[in-house]
Amino acid sequence: MPLSRRDLLRSGAALGALAALPRVAAAAPRPATPVVLATWDNRAAATAAWDVLRAGGYALDAAEAAARIPEADPEDTSVGLGGRPDRDGRVTLDACVMDERHRCGAVAAVEDVLHPVTLARRVMENTPHVMLVGEGARALAEAEGLEMGDLLTPASEAAWREWRETAEYAPGINTERRDRPSGHADDHDTIGVLTLDAAGRLCGACTTSGLAYKMRGRVGDSPIIGGGLFVDGGVGGAVATGHGEEVIRVAGASAVVEAMRHGRTAQDAAASLVERVARVTPADPAMIQVGVLALGPDGSVGAFGLQPGFVYVVARPGSDPAPDAEGTVTNRQPIDGGVLFTVEAPSVL
Ligand code: GLY
Repeated sequence: MPLSRRDLLRSGAALGALAALPRVAAAAPRPATPVVLATWDNRAAATAAWDVLRAGGYALDAAEAAARIPEADPEDTSVGLGGRPDRDGRVTLDACVMDERHRCGAVAAVEDVLHPVTLARRVMENTPHVMLVGEGARALAEAEGLEMGDLLTPASEAAWREWRETAEYAPGINTERRDRPSGHADDHDTIGVLTLDAAGRLCGACTTSGLAYKMRGRVGDSPIIGGGLFVDGGVGGAVATGHGEEVIRVAGASAVVEAMRHGRTAQDAAASLVERVARVTPADPAMIQVGVLALGPDGSVGAFGLQPGFVYVVARPGSDPAPDAEGTVTNRQPIDGGVLFTVEAPSVL
């Protein structure tokens, strides 16, 4: 009679077999030309990351430094301080980080924490877990001595009160805002960052206040490892922005990296993911936006949007924003030891 799985485990044979399996060693990073890639026209954030890389720093420090810029900016209505609240008037934040060795940390629906990206990193480095949410995440922030405070700015509160006057909140696929394509100030534009340092270490970070006036408790793709961010240091990294539900539906960032693992270029992988979103979404693709960035360990760049208007920034040495990526350069400015490009990505529509 064949052994059942339980018998096999009890026999210890399976454990022995497991122990005999070779561990898949991560590809050792190779020296690289540093690159910073960030969603939207987040030039100050990209410059902060570049400064870390330029000084010979670690890619994860660079990604975190970039994400902290919009988190502390009260004028940025989709990230951190000044982020639009949920429909109950509470600012709730999502963030994650991932390094070149599959180490990752995330927080979701956390309140009163100025730098959720740093909290996500503390989850990764100082806890045995990958993700903490809500009150538990807030408690860790306090225990770690992170900066706390009320993140609802007067401007954000006024916008929320005005929204409440007219809003007929009827959650559909993603949003009550079915009357216009994304891109309005009250929609969101998560910052996702991918960084490659001189030692060839590829890391990423993602941070957002999520969809403006979302249902309380709603979490998008940004803190989901494999959704809004995924990195395999030897293969590539990807970040997503836009309507998180659509990104989660296709396991967005993970799917991009897996496509790269199977030989697709960063550009091709980013494009194929967004095309898949357009095919599978139950929403009208014209009423949603998804943007994807991909970065290879060789510094290759991919970028694609569902709708026109998805812009990203690249910081790197040389005169070309992305040797193998497509898109239209809309701004070019010198930075210390490199150039910062703003590029509009190609799109499905
Ligand atoms: N992409 C951010 C969110 O949907 O919350």
